[in-house]
Amino acid sequence: MTSAGRGLYLRRMKVDGTPYRTIWLGADGTTVQVIDQTLLPHQFVVRDWRTMEDAERGIRTMIVRGAPLIGAAAAYGMALAMARDDSDAMLTQAYTTLMASRPTAVNLRWALDDLRNLLAPLPHAKRADAAYRRAAEICDEDAEICRRIGENGLGLIRKLKPKGDRINALTHCNAGWLATVDWGTALAPIYQAHNAGIPIHVWVDETRPRNQGASLTAWELAKHGVPHTVIADNAGGHLMQRGQVDFCITGTDRTTRRGDVCNKIGTYLKALAAHDNGIPFYVGLPYPSIDWTIEDGAAIPIEERHASEVSRIAGRTASGEVVTVDVLPEGSPAANPAFDVTPARLVTALITERGVCPASEAGLLSLYPEQSQAA
Ligand code: MRU
Repeated sequence: MTSAGRGLYLRRMKVDGTPYRTIWLGADGTTVQVIDQTLLPHQFVVRDWRTMEDAERGIRTMIVRGAPLIGAAAAYGMALAMARDDSDAMLTQAYTTLMASRPTAVNLRWALDDLRNLLAPLPHAKRADAAYRRAAEICDEDAEICRRIGENGLGLIRKLKPKGDRINALTHCNAGWLATVDWGTALAPIYQAHNAGIPIHVWVDETRPRNQGASLTAWELAKHGVPHTVIADNAGGHLMQRGQVDFCITGTDRTTRRGDVCNKIGTYLKALAAHDNGIPFYVGLPYPSIDWTIEDGAAIPIEERHASEVSRIAGRTASGEVVTVDVLPEGSPAANPAFDVTPARLVTALITERGVCPASEAGLLSLYPEQSQAA
């Protein structure tokens, strides 16, 4: 059964009353449909992908983004490739093309390896069906993983002793349902807490340069009725010093074997501030985001994106028109590293689908003992 059937009961996010995942199979059984995240929060548009090249472009241009969703999108990209041409040459070409779409989130490699290992030994005529089936399974599995991260994170939230009459979380970037298939990683515990009636409020870092916090996290929290406030990226440390943050929580694009956490640029500074103020810093971590082949976070490839993301910002005018404007003096260069690494020592705990553990090799192996032999 495909995710289009099985996934229905898992879909929980609603947009104007309609439940959505971030990626799904269209009614024709071959077209892949996704929410175009480059247009949010101003427009809600669903895009059709009919070719592997559509999927590659969608990942590269961030129509879809967020580590788990990048993995799911790549899996469907392989299915689209096999539907057109189930040869060995296409299998290799699709793998290589999709792998090059974005460098940092290890979920991309995880999904592509998974699909290639499944498809390579199969008779060619069976490859397309098998690829679609596996892509749908990856989506269902991601939704279930995130639901469990939510439950495990809720256990931590219940133990917090808030400084005021509500629990104040702080999050960076978007690690909600838009970054996954459903629920989210960092936001799953927040949704679970909100659903359980716990008074929770979220400080949302705007997350320059692409504003995933202001545009995406705020949008999805608002859709779900979770109280939140968008702040400039530099405000978090001040709020922590003033006792207005009870815990920080982020997602991750790649976490190493010893627990170094790579995530959206600026995460490290929040972890430093949290450490200085004795505030727990949690990371929602699905198993496909663990890179067991790397120990030191310094070895993670950091995506360098176009300088125009720093030099220009997009917004909506009073008349509803979406425009971009320059914010730098003409001629000033800009640099745009898209991710940073938070050393394990600054992470209070990792929240996985299997439970909560310290950010260390021993901690991760206590939850994933089958990885103890892998180097
Ligand atoms: O560049 P993006 O928007 O793909 O970066 C996304 C993030 O950094 C998320 O925090 C991360 O992928 C975790 S998603 C559950």
